[in-house]
Amino acid sequence: MEQLKQRIEKHIETIATFTATPGNGTTRLTYSKEDLQARHYIKEQMKASGLTVKEDGLGNIFGKLDGALADAPSVMVGSHFDSVPNGGAYDGTAGVVAALEVANLFYLANIKPTYPLEIIALVEEEGARFGGGLMGSRGITGELSEAEFSQLKDKNGVSTKEAMQDIGLDPSLPKARDSKTMKAFLEMHIEQGPILEEKNIPIGVVASIVGQAEYYITIKGQAGHAGTTPMDKRSDALITAAKIISELPEFAIAEGNGTVVTTGQLNVFPNGSNVIPDKVVFTVDIRSGKEKNVQHVIQLMKQCVALYQGNGIEIEVEETLYVKPKALSEKIQQLLKEHSSKCDIPYCSIDSGAGHDAMVFTDVTEVGMLFIPSKAGLSHCPEEWSDAADIANAVEILYQTAKQLTEAGDMKEKL
Ligand code: GLV
Ligand code: MN
Ligand code: MN
Repeated sequence: MEQLKQRIEKHIETIATFTATPGNGTTRLTYSKEDLQARHYIKEQMKASGLTVKEDGLGNIFGKLDGALADAPSVMVGSHFDSVPNGGAYDGTAGVVAALEVANLFYLANIKPTYPLEIIALVEEEGARFGGGLMGSRGITGELSEAEFSQLKDKNGVSTKEAMQDIGLDPSLPKARDSKTMKAFLEMHIEQGPILEEKNIPIGVVASIVGQAEYYITIKGQAGHAGTTPMDKRSDALITAAKIISELPEFAIAEGNGTVVTTGQLNVFPNGSNVIPDKVVFTVDIRSGKEKNVQHVIQLMKQCVALYQGNGIEIEVEETLYVKPKALSEKIQQLLKEHSSKCDIPYCSIDSGAGHDAMVFTDVTEVGMLFIPSKAGLSHCPEEWSDAADIANAVEILYQTAKQLTEAGDMKEKL
C-alpha cells in the first residue's frame, strides 16, 4: 500500500508540472502544449503496464489489455486529464492516475482477463477551451456528432481540428464507438465538496449525478465614446449583461432542491476602458438533481433575457450543453460497496453536484463511480488537494471490481 501511495504521489506531482500557469495552479487546456506533455506521460505509463495504446479522432487515449474472448466489450476505467484555468492537480487527473494504477496491478499480478480492460484518459471534460464540456465522452458515445465537433472553436477562433493537428493528433480517426464495445465504465474522482471529509469517510459510492445545462448568451449593443455619448443615448451591452446576470441567482434560490446557477465566464468587446461595450458574451451554468428544476430555471432565464431585447440591444441564447440527471448502475454500486467492505474501507453513498464523463457513459453502458475526500471541499482552484492514501484505497476497490467485471458474464449478458 505504501508503495502504491508513493507511485500515486509521483504521478500527481509529475502531471501537475504540465501546466501553463506554474505556481498558480493547473491550467491544462485541451490540445495545448501541456496536454501533449501529459499525454506523453500517460501513454508511457500505459505502455509500462503492458497496455496497447491508441488515440481516437478526439485525442482521447486508450490503453488496452486484451481479453481471452475475441471482440468482447471492454471494462473501461478512467477520467479526464484537462483542467479548468488555474485549477487543481487532482480534478480528473486523480482518476486517470487511479486507472493507470489499476492497470499496473493487473500487470503485476499477470492477469489475463476474459474481457478486455481499457484504461481511458479523456479530453475536454471541463469545456475550458471549446465550451460545453464532456467533449471526449460525448464524442465517444456519438452524442456529439462529427459535424458538431468540427464546428467548435476556441475563443481565438482556432477549430478543434486545427488545434488537434497543432499537437500532432489526427482528427480523421474514428470518434464514436459502438456501445457493444463497452461492458462497463468505472471512474474515480475527487468529491470536490465537503461531505466525505466532514463525515470522515474515505470512499463515496456515487448514486446519481446532477443534471446540467450550459448556455452562451451574446448581447449586442452599440459601441461609442465613453465621454461624449449621453447616458440616455446608449445601447450598452455590458450594462444589459450585468442586469441579467444579477437576476439569475434568485431563480435558483427560489427553485430550491439544491438548484444552482453560475456565470463564470464573461467576455467584453472591444474591452476598452473608454469605449461603450458593443458586445458581451457570458456563460450560464444551471444544475439540479431534478430535471424539472433545471428546466424551470432555463425557462425563467429565457423570459428574463427577452425583457431586455430592443432599444438597440439584441440577444442570442445558445445552448452548449444539456445533460439530464443520471442514476448510476445499481449493480456496479453494489459491487463497489462489496469490495469496499472486503478491503475494510468504510464507504457511504453520495450524490454528485459536479458533472462527470461517467454521466455520459450511462446512456451506453453500466457505470460506477467512486469519490474520495477533497480537503476543505475545495476544487477548481489551486488549493485543491486529496490524500494519495485515499486514492490508493480507491485503486484497491476499483482493481477488485474491474477484476470481477473482466472475468464475469458473457457476451449476451453485458455484466
Ligand atoms: C466539471 O468539473 C463540472 O462539473 O463542471
Ligand atoms: Mn472539473
Ligand atoms: Mn472533473
